[in-house]
Amino acid sequence: MSNPILNRTNMSAEEIYEDLKTKLYDIVPDVELRIKAEVAHEVNQLKVERNAVILGHNYMEPTLYNSIPDFVGDSLQLSRLAAQTNKDVIVFCGVEFMAETAKILSPEKTVLIPSDKAGCSLAASITAEDVRQLKARFPGVPVVTYVNTYADVKAECDICCTSGNAVAVVESLDADTVIFIPDEYLARNVAQETGKHIILPTAVSQSKIEFSTDVDYQMVGWNGRCEVHEQFTVRDIENVRAQFPDVAILAHPECSPEVVAVSDFAGSTSAMINYVRETDAPRYLILTECAMGENIAAENRDKEMLGLCSVRCPHMNQITLEDTRDALKFMQYEVNVPEHIRVRALKSVERMLTIG
Ligand code: 13P
Ligand code: SF4
Repeated sequence: MSNPILNRTNMSAEEIYEDLKTKLYDIVPDVELRIKAEVAHEVNQLKVERNAVILGHNYMEPTLYNSIPDFVGDSLQLSRLAAQTNKDVIVFCGVEFMAETAKILSPEKTVLIPSDKAGCSLAASITAEDVRQLKARFPGVPVVTYVNTYADVKAECDICCTSGNAVAVVESLDADTVIFIPDEYLARNVAQETGKHIILPTAVSQSKIEFSTDVDYQMVGWNGRCEVHEQFTVRDIENVRAQFPDVAILAHPECSPEVVAVSDFAGSTSAMINYVRETDAPRYLILTECAMGENIAAENRDKEMLGLCSVRCPHMNQITLEDTRDALKFMQYEVNVPEHIRVRALKSVERMLTIG
């Protein structure tokens, strides 16, 4: 389940500040906490006025993550919640494809994203036309798309998946061969876990996608990468292990299979949060967007978190408390999906949601 957060709509700015100070006293400077608490108070008032729910991805920066979301979670958990809410407005503190998924599931609701610059390198790596070409090249092969894609791509696919259920989704198809797009590393990690041999495009041009298919294959991938997770290397891990031999290293499955292989655990953002909660290593290194490490550190005071904080997601970092206040104040930026695309994309998303 995702994490419902303490209801703060009745709290004063002073009470929010005290709450943030308890959690973040050594992570965020006090002067910043006071300013952010005032903004969070405004957001919470507006949330009631607009009859809105705020969904916050695990990557949100610590003051936002700990003050305004009604729920926090990974992509899968937030998709499920977006389908269930009875509020008029969904404010998605995450990136555009996540807000789009909320709109696909709840077309009658107003869906807002606080910044119109919160994209995703994976979602940008493939177009609907690319998928049509893949389907023409491999006719009859079911297409699984990572949820980190835009609605028109989802509309071309058979089923979505997230990092939390990718293996289960592929196995649910019971097919000899699947197309799995667009994250090359996630695909290779899933291929490893499901024992499938994967092929990737050797060349992609506007008119043609080329594969060398002279090997036996059961998975067809794509060359998309997450600009954050592709930066972690085996060398980083060796260096950290040399310095801290007792460290537990957690990797997101958007990291390369080589990095995943030398890590102690790989899983979705929520799976990593739970792993730290439920284990007792003296220290942890989380190979993912750095803000999440700060959120885990705030929650697990007895455990040391090491950070590789040069690596940040420029898209997730677009979302601020101030922009979320303005989103509710000015009802911006509204996310819409053309109905003919939405109904087709919905099938892929709903099919995923039926998988446990
Ligand atoms: P999760 O689905 O694990 O939350 O990941 C989303 C994401 O964008 C990771 O970079
Ligand atoms: Fe996209 Fe990577 Fe940012 Fe996640 S961390 S939103 S996959 S660019």
